[in-house]
Parts: sequence; structure tokens; C-alpha cells
Amino acid sequence: MRLPALMPTWVFPAMTDNENSFIVFDNVTYCYSEDEPVSDGNAASLDVSVSSGRKEAVKNISLTIEKGSFTVICGSNGSGKSTLAKLMNGLLVPTEGKVITGGLDTSDDNNMWEIRRNTGMVFQNPDNQIIATSVEEDVAFGLENIGVPREEMLKRVDEALEICGIKEIRKSEPHLLSGGQKQRVSIAGILAMRPSCIVLDESTAMLDPKGRKSVLDIIRKLNREENITIVLITHHMDEITFADKVIVMEKGEVVRTGTPEEIFSDSRVTEDLNLELPPASWIFNNLEGFDFGGTVLTAGQGVSLMLSKLKK
Ligand SMILES: Nc1ncnc2c1ncn2[C@@H]1O[C@H](COP(=O)(O)OP(=O)(O)O)[C@@H](O)[C@H]1O
Ligand SMILES: [Mg+2]
Repeated sequence: MRLPALMPTWVFPAMTDNENSFIVFDNVTYCYSEDEPVSDGNAASLDVSVSSGRKEAVKNISLTIEKGSFTVICGSNGSGKSTLAKLMNGLLVPTEGKVITGGLDTSDDNNMWEIRRNTGMVFQNPDNQIIATSVEEDVAFGLENIGVPREEMLKRVDEALEICGIKEIRKSEPHLLSGGQKQRVSIAGILAMRPSCIVLDESTAMLDPKGRKSVLDIIRKLNREENITIVLITHHMDEITFADKVIVMEKGEVVRTGTPEEIFSDSRVTEDLNLELPPASWIFNNLEGFDFGGTVLTAGQGVSLMLSKLKK
């Protein structure tokens, strides 16, 4: 069944000049040409119809990502999430429609470097993103490429290592690190470029629970304390609970947008879109004798609601 997308106030059909928006998609469609190689290690299934050599990996997408917001994108494999992510920082440019990122049109070649500096991407496999032979060299790599003076570079590398909690391992060889540490090195490299936005495409998918938590803690801190706009693509439903807004993709289209509460209080989302409820929701929403009067998303929320009910 095709679900109508909710249209909250942050989704506009055509909007390019709102000063609160950081990324704006205006009726965007993207088709891969048939012989295009898959450019990253992220999973993608072939469930989009192919007609005359063109596949619509995403179609008719209009959305806005607000400055400083934390957005989570979810949806099944092959639904278009990675394509959407790459359209955000100009790694792909729309076949139809327009993407404006940080006020710049991604289809204009002159904007490419500024858009890539200002909107960093972290992919799924940390091994594909490490380039240098020590952590600090890796973090400095992007800065060297754009010719940042040495003193400024050292300052920014220090700062990024500190924020990402990897200062002690600055001399280490990246290939000896854990997955979570490697992803934090990738994030530090982006951070050193002083971005406004970081897009993470299933960047926690290959990590163990400890590594996943360490990466999530960093990106939440970057969002809250550094006001960096975060777009997180994930299969982990507990990560959805951090979002200001959730975008649900299905077969190349945005089928739902809303707050985590709006998304998960609609039973059709879990029934028809194959999204699981966050783990804490299963527990609290099935507790005998407790009616929380809504969908509980996190253990913290559940416990405080329980305590307030017990006090009454
Ligand atoms: N490089 C590519 N060349 C051709 N088709 C691709 C390529 N990358 C993705 N696709 C197709 O585009 C559709 C959306 O893929 P993708 O954006 O990777 O989805 P997701 O990230 O949600 O798994 C899928 O049908 C996928 O097979
Ligand atoms: Mg993907």
C-alpha cells in the first residue's frame, strides 16, 4: 500500500530562500545510468524498475533540512537513502529538479569545493575512508589539500581530535584501531574542515555496540554544542529517537516525515513500511497495567513516565 506523506511545516514543495534551511530539495529526481559503478560499500538492492536504461533511484523529492537540526533518514535497502545523501553534498547532481546546500546550487561546478567542505560525508565502511598512516595525518589530510597554513592546520587538527575523543591515539596507525575509533577519525577529518553539516550514511552499521555509542555520542555533541546540522541514515531504530525530524524513504520516494513521536505513533509505519519500533518502545508499550497515553521511545522517557504515574 502506498502511504500519503505527512506534510509538516518543514517540508515545502519549492523553497530556496528560507534563512533557517540548510539543505533544500526542490522536486528532485535522480536516475543512474545503467553502467554507473556503485561508488561506496553501502548495501543497495535492485528493486527500482529499469526503463530504457534509466533507473529512478529517487523521484520527486521536495524536502528541507533546517540549520542546526538532527535529521534521521530510514527505509529499506534500495529505497534511495544513499542516493539522497550523495545529492546533499553534490557527489551526485539531480537529473531533474534542484538541490541547494548552504545556499549554493549543487549543479553549479563552481560551488563544488565549497559544498564538499561545508557538508562532509561519512560512509559505512571506515576502512574505505582512512588514507594516511597516522591518525593525525589522516585528520589533516583535507586541510592539506585545500592549502591551509601549517599553524592553522595544527590548531584545527588538535581541536578536532579533542572533540572526537581521540587525542591519545593521534600517533596510532589507523588500521590498528577499532571500527568506532576509525569512524571518529573520519568525523575528525571532516570537523577540521569546519563544516556546517555532516551526513552519515549508515556509519554505525558495521560497529559493535560500544563503537556505535561512541560515534553517536560525538555526533550528538557536535549537533548540540557546535550547532552542526546532522543527517544520519540508519537501520538502528534507537538512533531515530535522537532526531528532531525523521524522513522515511520507500522505493525512491519520501513516504513519511515527522518527529519520532509522530512517526512511531502511527501503527501503519511499523505495519506497512517494515520499520521496527525502537527497543525501549517494545518494552514500555507492552507493560501490563501501564497506559502511557502515547508511544514511549526511550527507556529514560518510559522510566520518568512510570515514576510520575506511581507518584500520583
Ligand atoms: N551506482 C549505481 N548504479 C546504478 N544503480 C544504483 C547505483 N547506486 C544505487 N543504485 C540503485 O538505486 C536505488 C537506490 O539505491 P540507494 O540509494 O543505494 O538505496 P539505499 O541506500 O536506501 O539502500 C537502488 O535500486 C539501487 O540499486
Ligand atoms: Mg545505502
